[in-house]
Amino acid sequence: MKTVIEIKKLIKTYQVGDIAVHALRGVNLAVQEGEFVAIMGASGSGKSTLMNLIGCLDVPTSGSYILDGKDVTSMSKNDYANIRNEKIGFVFQGFNLLSRTTALENVELPLSYDRSMRIENPKQASIEALTRVGLGDRIDHQPNQLSGGQQQRVAIARALVNQPAIILADEPTGNLDSLTSIEVLAIFQELNNQGITVVLVTHEPDIAMYAKRVIKMQDGQIVRDSIVENRHDAFIDLAKAKQEKIQAEQSDFLDGVNSK
Ligand SMILES: Nc1ncnc2c1ncn2[C@@H]1O[C@H](COP(=O)(O)OP(=O)(O)OP(=O)(O)O)[C@@H](O)[C@H]1O
Ligand SMILES: [Mg+2]
Repeated sequence: MKTVIEIKKLIKTYQVGDIAVHALRGVNLAVQEGEFVAIMGASGSGKSTLMNLIGCLDVPTSGSYILDGKDVTSMSKNDYANIRNEKIGFVFQGFNLLSRTTALENVELPLSYDRSMRIENPKQASIEALTRVGLGDRIDHQPNQLSGGQQQRVAIARALVNQPAIILADEPTGNLDSLTSIEVLAIFQELNNQGITVVLVTHEPDIAMYAKRVIKMQDGQIVRDSIVENRHDAFIDLAKAKQEKIQAEQSDFLDGVNSK
């Protein structure tokens, strides 16, 4: 098996005026290709800081990081941007889509930054990514013409279009209701089944049950690392939820008929 994330003794200290904020205090973490990891922990425990370092959005104060076989610890800012384009897809809580811009254009955008030109036909690749998340019929819709779950799926398509080795998602279901959250998790599980490594931050234990492994952070350190037993399958849960909804509607209808 291939190790895609290998982090050793990672420390991140933010200096704010006279105060040093110890956001990460020596994190060791190895993630293998094909894993689905949920990161949990209280607010301020360092989850987003760790995600930003994994995603090469920020540099650590000290420690080492090997990403998909490449030692990125002492890379320049320029190399950081390139490696991000090549290896990482990001999904955020607030979707971060451009308004008054179609789904297709939103997904195509990261390809226009990619100077390696790995993707030959950006438009075709973007349509394929949108189709993969079930939005092939919504490519010309703008964010305000889409539901929250659909907007998040556009964001996932945008993360996918570079064919990344890893998808990083920081609270991707934080703005979604529970049924829509499961729909989004179904997509992450499907992508993971296709071989993409997924690392996701969540506050909700129910959401973490869809991952294969859960890491708990506390005060800038990993304090627990465990395999998910009785993992939830989002497709099965979605089917169940839809069935329950139909039954509830039928019973409402019958109540209405009987009371007449
Ligand atoms: N840019 C920054 N400058 C200074 N301090 C920061 C910065 N970003 C984060 N911190 C501090 O680092 C610590 C870890 O923050 P982080 O955002 O990683 O927490 P988190 O676990 O993601 O929390 P939440 O669940 O609220 O999103 C906090 O004490 C926070 O105040
Ligand atoms: Mg955070």
